[in-house]
Amino acid sequence: MIGIIGAMEEEVLALADMMEGVESTKIAGMVFKKGMLNGREAVVVRSGIGKVNAAVCTQILADIYHVDAVINTGVAGSLKNEINIGDIVVSSDALQHDMDATGFGYAPGVIPRMPVSVFVADKKLVEAAKAACTEAVPEIGVFEGRVVSGDQFITDKDTKKRLIDTFDACCTEMEGAAIAQAAYLNGIPFLIIRAISDKADDSASMDYSEFERKAIEHSVKLMVNLIQRV
Ligand code: ADE
Repeated sequence: MIGIIGAMEEEVLALADMMEGVESTKIAGMVFKKGMLNGREAVVVRSGIGKVNAAVCTQILADIYHVDAVINTGVAGSLKNEINIGDIVVSSDALQHDMDATGFGYAPGVIPRMPVSVFVADKKLVEAAKAACTEAVPEIGVFEGRVVSGDQFITDKDTKKRLIDTFDACCTEMEGAAIAQAAYLNGIPFLIIRAISDKADDSASMDYSEFERKAIEHSVKLMVNLIQRV
């Protein structure tokens, strides 16, 4: 069973529409839709926004659905000049940019008393996602790299610069690293796939709404292709 956590309601609904034998269950306010997607058993859910929702959602996928892998889709703000609106980032790893115990001498992003703070995505899932992108959305640029997450929608250039200088990441969003950490704690492989909706600067909120519909279309095509490869 593959767990798919989508950030956007329309995206999750579109995937659920393509599933056969859908069974919906509401847990912790989240609707888990289980069924067959392109011949694979899958459960699709919208976690809601932010790291706490994302972590709770992932734990439910582990405990109740015993998923073999978790894939997180959605949109993100670009942190690299060469990664533009519309491009896709496939996670090599993920960390929380707002984890800050620097007052105790820890480096930014390091979780005190955890052996790992940078969560490495499953290599097979990374390769499968890149192949799925090439086949399903060949017109879109695909990048592999670090995803940083925090409970902040980044819209100012100073914060953007700090994230770039500190973490050398490809994109920023609000759930991926929490899903990665919850997956790590449960010994489950994970992958984050994000379509770039904005450049994480002053124009971010405007670009975001314009881009959402297109991102959903790409993400659905991609997931349907990817699921048969994993
Ligand atoms: N998701 C999409 N764009 C984002 C941004 N600029 N900051 C955080 N999350 C995002």
